[in-house]
Amino acid sequence: MNTELLRVVEAQFEISCPSIRHCPAPVLPEIAIAGRSNVGKSSLINLLCNRKNLAKTSSTPGKTRLLNFFKIRIEPGTHWLHLVDLPGYGYAKVSKSMKSDWDKALGEFLEKRETLSGIIHLIDSRHEPTKLDLQMREWIVHTGIPCITVLTKVDKLKQNERVKNKTQIKKNLQLLPEEHCIETSVLNREGVTTLLQALLPLLPHPQEEPLADQ
Ligand code: GTP
Ligand code: MG
Repeated sequence: MNTELLRVVEAQFEISCPSIRHCPAPVLPEIAIAGRSNVGKSSLINLLCNRKNLAKTSSTPGKTRLLNFFKIRIEPGTHWLHLVDLPGYGYAKVSKSMKSDWDKALGEFLEKRETLSGIIHLIDSRHEPTKLDLQMREWIVHTGIPCITVLTKVDKLKQNERVKNKTQIKKNLQLLPEEHCIETSVLNREGVTTLLQALLPLLPHPQEEPLADQ
C-alpha cells in the first residue's frame, strides 16, 4: 500500500456520551484522543479529517466534556473506525463533583472499552509534560493499550526548540525507542500522513462498512 496516499475520506459526528454505558455498540475499532484541556485534541480530529468544525474547538479550556464519537473511513482500503474525543484533564474551573464524573467516565472508558485499539496521547510541544500528563502516561502503560504520542502546536516553536523539546518530552514520558512521537501543527497541516501511518497498524483488520445503526 502506498501510505503517502492515506487519508480520511468520510467523517461524521456520531454521538456524545456521558459514560461508557451510553456508548455505541462495541463494533468498530476505536482510537481515543487523550490529553490535557486545551492541548488541541478536537483540533487534531479536524486536521485528520480535513474538516474545519467537525469537532468543536475553543481557545477556552474545558470545551469537550463528554466522550464524543466520530465515525471515519480511511483509504486506501476500507478502514472504518471511531475516533473518540475525550474530555480534557487538568481543567481547574469546574466543580469537584463534575471533575470526578469526567475522571470516572474517562477511566472506565480506557479500562473497560473492549473495542479500544489505541490511544493518541497529546502533549503540548512547548512545555514539559505536566504531572497529570505523566499520570496519564502511567495509566496508558498500565492498560497495555498501544499508544501514539503526539506533540501539538509545533508551529509555535523554532526548529531548534522543536528538537530540544521533543528529546526532553520523550525522556520525561519514558517513551520506548520504538514508540511513535509525532509532531503536529494545525496551522501548517503538519503530521497528518505520519499519524495515519502510525494509526493504521493498530486496527485489528480492514473493517467492512458498518450497518447504519452501529
Ligand atoms: P478541551 O476540549 O477543552 O479539552 O480542549 P482541546 O484539547 O480539544 O483543544 P482544542 O482543539 O479546542 O484547541 C485549543 C486551542 O488551541 C484552540 O484555540 C486551537 O485553535 C489551538 N490549537 C490547537 N492546535 C493547534 C496548533 O497545532 N497550532 C496552534 N497554533 N494552535 C492550535
Ligand atoms: Mg476539545
